[in-house]
Amino acid sequence: MNYRSWTFKDILKISELEKECFSEPWTYRMFADAFSSKGFVGVLAEDEGEIVGYACGTAMFETAEIDDVAVAEGYRRQGIAAALLGAMERESLALGAETLLLEVRVSNSPAMRLYLKEGFSGLYARPRYYPDGEDALVMRKLLGAPQVSRVGTGRKKPEK
Ligand SMILES: CC(C)(COP(=O)(O)OP(=O)(O)OC[C@H]1O[C@@H](n2cnc3c(N)ncnc32)[C@H](O)[C@@H]1OP(=O)(O)O)[C@@H](O)C(=O)NCCC(=O)NCCS
Repeated sequence: MNYRSWTFKDILKISELEKECFSEPWTYRMFADAFSSKGFVGVLAEDEGEIVGYACGTAMFETAEIDDVAVAEGYRRQGIAAALLGAMERESLALGAETLLLEVRVSNSPAMRLYLKEGFSGLYARPRYYPDGEDALVMRKLLGAPQVSRVGTGRKKPEK
């Protein structure tokens, strides 16, 4: 499996895969607009040149958002979405983000399990967020939280 950033010409295939994966898919135009906007981050997985999974979002300032993650049906449960989330996380960190946010349908238990496994936690619900009236759960992951240093505090050890 090869993982890389999106190019503009990937969008046609991505929008076709999107139709297979979602009941209310983003259109080609929506992806093209997102791709051209400031702070866009997009990573994809390809198998022998065929796009089989993708993720995209926006990283601006300290908060990055993941807008979309999907994997082709025949390629699921192989760790591809987890790898895509890891790549999104690294790209967002490199752009200065400290927090990653996303929304998930409350009925989408595969996605929710994926996000929980990858270190996201539920933040709050958005009632009737989707056009069909379903609620969204907003989930958050804190990126690269600073570790408390136990060495090198600069204080001299008391002499024995
Ligand atoms: C959700 C989705 C992206 C997961 O992709 P994936 O590549 O199969 O996920 P991974 O293989 O990386 O799964 C990682 C972990 O997530 C959880 N998970 C993923 N799919 C699951 C499922 N169907 N049932 C239960 N747990 C699941 C598991 O904990 C899994 O680890 P495991 O396989 O070791 O048990 C994929 O099912 C999909 O494209 N669904 C349709 C689009 C969608 O709903 N996208 C999310 C929008 S918010």
